[in-house]
Amino acid sequence: MIVLVGFMGAGKTTVGRLLADRLGLPFVDTDLVIEDRERRTVPDIFAADGEQAFRDVEQAVVADVVAGPEAVVSLGGGACGRAATREVLRAHTVVHLDVSFEQAKARTAGDTYRPMLHRPGLAELHASRRVVFEDIADLSVRTDGRRAETIALEVLDRV
Ligand code: S3P
Repeated sequence: MIVLVGFMGAGKTTVGRLLADRLGLPFVDTDLVIEDRERRTVPDIFAADGEQAFRDVEQAVVADVVAGPEAVVSLGGGACGRAATREVLRAHTVVHLDVSFEQAKARTAGDTYRPMLHRPGLAELHASRRVVFEDIADLSVRTDGRRAETIALEVLDRV
């Protein structure tokens, strides 16, 4: 399993689709699996039940997806906050799409779909998550100023 991790706006979905196409594998976005399972959107889950309830569902979904059929998998930007999730990822190829805070902010400007973007301390969250991503990743790829195709090719070259 190739698992893409990284901050919101890193390009996990775009790069993940390209990688899956090239590898002839399905692409799975865990946020979409969560929405399917819950029959409501991610922001609706956050609004109705709060972040921790969302993280509980996310943890269960990530564990199920990585235990399933071979795929390229994109995780939500906060999924690696749970130790249990970091543990299940150890058996897989984890790729960190390493986006700067400035670029992530620019790429998510005007977004109303991601509740975490509107919390205070976003720069600190980016910095602390980046440490975790670098720690668990088998491969880290810089994304700033680069096309998704270029990033996907670098991943394919290095995994
Ligand atoms: C989140 C990122 C989102 C989604 C949810 C929470 C986060 O996924 O899981 O809004 O905590 O960073 P993307 O990273 O795909 O935007």
